[in-house]
Amino acid sequence: MRFPTLIPALFLLAAPITAQQPSVTLMPMPASLTLTAARLALDTSFTVALPHVHDARLERAVTRAVRRLSMRIARPLPYQYALDTAATLIVDVAASGHAIPELDDDESYTLQVSDHRAVLTAPNVVGAIRGLETLLQLQAADASGLYFQGADIRDTPRFRWRGLLLDVSRHFEPVDVVKRTLDGMAMVKLNVLHWHLSDDQGFRVESRKEPRLQEFGSDGLYYTQDEIRDVVAYAADRGIRVMPEFDVPGHSSSWFVGYPELTVGSGPFSIARTWGTFVPTMDPTRESTYHFLDTVIGEISGLFPDKYWHVGGDEVDPKQWKTTATIQDYMRAHGLANEVALHTAFNRRLFEIVQKHGRIPVGWDEIFQPDLPTSAVIQSWRSSDALAASARAGFHGILSAPYYIDHMKTAADVYLADPIPVNTTLTPAQQALVLGGEACLWGEYVTPDLVDSRLWPRLAAVAERFWSPGSVTDVPDMYRRLAVTSHRLEEVGLRHEEHVARAVTWFAGDSSELFQRFIGYIRPRDFGGNGPNQMYPHTALVDAALPDPPAAAALMALARRAVQGDTAALGALQDRFAEMSGFQDRLAAVAVELPAARDGAMVAGLLRNIGVAGGMTVDALRHRDLAAAGWSTTADSLLRLAVPKAGGMRPVGADAVRVLLQSVR
Ligand code: ACM
Repeated sequence: MRFPTLIPALFLLAAPITAQQPSVTLMPMPASLTLTAARLALDTSFTVALPHVHDARLERAVTRAVRRLSMRIARPLPYQYALDTAATLIVDVAASGHAIPELDDDESYTLQVSDHRAVLTAPNVVGAIRGLETLLQLQAADASGLYFQGADIRDTPRFRWRGLLLDVSRHFEPVDVVKRTLDGMAMVKLNVLHWHLSDDQGFRVESRKEPRLQEFGSDGLYYTQDEIRDVVAYAADRGIRVMPEFDVPGHSSSWFVGYPELTVGSGPFSIARTWGTFVPTMDPTRESTYHFLDTVIGEISGLFPDKYWHVGGDEVDPKQWKTTATIQDYMRAHGLANEVALHTAFNRRLFEIVQKHGRIPVGWDEIFQPDLPTSAVIQSWRSSDALAASARAGFHGILSAPYYIDHMKTAADVYLADPIPVNTTLTPAQQALVLGGEACLWGEYVTPDLVDSRLWPRLAAVAERFWSPGSVTDVPDMYRRLAVTSHRLEEVGLRHEEHVARAVTWFAGDSSELFQRFIGYIRPRDFGGNGPNQMYPHTALVDAALPDPPAAAALMALARRAVQGDTAALGALQDRFAEMSGFQDRLAAVAVELPAARDGAMVAGLLRNIGVAGGMTVDALRHRDLAAAGWSTTADSLLRLAVPKAGGMRPVGADAVRVLLQSVR
């Protein structure tokens, strides 16, 4: 029996899946999906055949997938390949494609799962890599055992450029962190690691030609050339491009520690330890600056086969250029009206160097100026309008402005922002210049211990925005799938779920259980905010708290069910509101011995207001006629009082209470 073909938008509008209907959790949603009643058993008889292309990269991808399936059934699976017709999984790939991924690679695939086998076809190995992840997501289980849900999938990405910027300058991230990040990216079909390798706070790559870059600019925390090659190969194996960024002419203090002659002034210069923008800037008027950049870009581009090279170009502080006589003289002599024109002149020279080494320059939206050659790609971090403006001027663009996940945005916030929104004013030709988007994780407050919990699972929501049809926008369904995807991401070694338990143990000892419950209801404010410099250990309550704790979406889902008359949901809400109301007293009881309890006192008070308002509203829903006069005004006031005025944390749940309130009124 087949269920009717459902395109994703219809699938999401359909009634909630009942016990009889197949249920799967795919993320990102495929371009076209038909679920069927078929079930392909997963047991130790599982085998794979590769009838056409059978190259090493495909074999490694299949081996990784089989290993994960083996973990799920807790039994070894055979690694030898079967004859075509007998296999459980047939991976039929027409061509190897580029071993080093490229922007225009065809990542499409089809996947059919019947009662007897799964057939994955793809024009290139990279499509098969994407399809294997989908197959792993089709695995489900019930009383009869593990199985793959029957499906007929035709899939291809909406955008070619689906990236993550990882800033390893503010805080260094070791190779194993980068590799497991790549594993997570591959799971959700992201295809670009934008590696922000230098900034004021650190230069993170070994240069053999100019070794004082890492020797003086990194505190010894940098990647060797072998490590870079290893990461690039690891990414390529997963169909992920690695684009390096060396941010110039601003954000480059770390270069000047070993090479003060690149800037003006007498120095000595030091690695920046705090955050923001800094005055020392490259001197764009000296030939020696370009000679140095040519040497470094020439050497380091040899480590990065990607066709794109990110030059940075953001937040150039003009102070030094304005106040240096030789620079002002140069500007007059060359007819450069202001410091922006000087930056563009610098970029023209820089682009010649980048292009000489066979790379296409990418830069932040400050580089977008009228007389810049349109061969550059503009990455918009300041606004979606900036992306539209550069597309109108004929530039290829990448959108990042809405996807700053270090700003502690919720998954819903980043999910609903579209690189090409439905009301876009761009022409189809201009829209075609929008290559895609990148989530950004800037590293001010992100240590190796924290990085997984700051990236995941929210990054999966961004990944879906970049891969899936623009019509896939159902937020409650996204949260349902995100919760499952979050668990699955731990399978490849990510530690975001483990993070809370571990971090809480550091500071709460015997009260860990209390803090784990409490942390479920609070979020860091804005940037996270704990740690004005690079030396902070990031082991406080706010660092353990998650940007979008699952309780926030769970409360909202319960509220939606409760207003539909679901009494079980109403009961669950009542329990949750009671718990939220109680943390203030419970923390007070342990505050003497635990600084973290004192840190949490203010937000626990705010949370109490939400819990009490929620409790009153549940009572009113239950006993409409008995509701005390004035209760709803009181609930409103409590919610208003739950907005933090200061401090590093904010409570969740006010929006869920508002949904309930509206329904009573
Ligand atoms: C940026 O956030 N300055 C690119």
